[in-house]
Amino acid sequence: MTIAVFASGSGTNFERLVQVSREERWLVPIVVLICDQPGAHVLKRADRLGVPSYVFSPKAFETKAAYEQAVYDVLRRHDVTWIVLAGYMRLVGPTLLDAYPNRIVNIHPSLLPAFPGKNAVGQALAHGVKVTGVTVHFVDEGMDTGSIIAQRAVDVSETEDEHSLTAKIQAVEHELYPHIVRQLTEEETTKSDIVERAVT
Ligand code: GAR
Repeated sequence: MTIAVFASGSGTNFERLVQVSREERWLVPIVVLICDQPGAHVLKRADRLGVPSYVFSPKAFETKAAYEQAVYDVLRRHDVTWIVLAGYMRLVGPTLLDAYPNRIVNIHPSLLPAFPGKNAVGQALAHGVKVTGVTVHFVDEGMDTGSIIAQRAVDVSETEDEHSLTAKIQAVEHELYPHIVRQLTEEETTKSDIVERAVT
């Protein structure tokens, strides 16, 4: 059992997940980064952390299914059982959803179902909300629509701008996401261990 992180951009969540997983010696390790953006900063973080990374540019494939099949081939080689999206700005298609039922999670910078999709922080500011937050959820075929696993609220102050609110939200993400990912993946490990012991 292993974890793959998917990311498209800066990768602060990816880095935090790797650091915490190593500090806490998670039972289910993060073994690979999948990135859909050649040149994304997250690839530099992966190199620095010594995590193998693979870049697949969807444009290089004729179909989304072909792109995801290529990704899936890598995941199988690494015995990946959980996919953790961390700023992966792309809808997951049927190829990966069918291969990982209820095994793909995402983090989103709002209290879903408010402000799905891109620029959730900007959307929240434009609406003048006083509270926004962070959601961890299972991934389904929709845009940030899967069932919610955990949420944390973040207050929006009178003087908030996109920069300051993003920083507040990311600080919460960096605490919440590792905690939830560990819980989900280890819960399963412990359960299967109990089943195996009951059978033998
Ligand atoms: C994070 O804030 C994450 O919640 C968001 O992208 C950012 C990635 O930051 N994800 C989405 O908006 C998904 N719809 P990072 O690259 O520094 O981890």
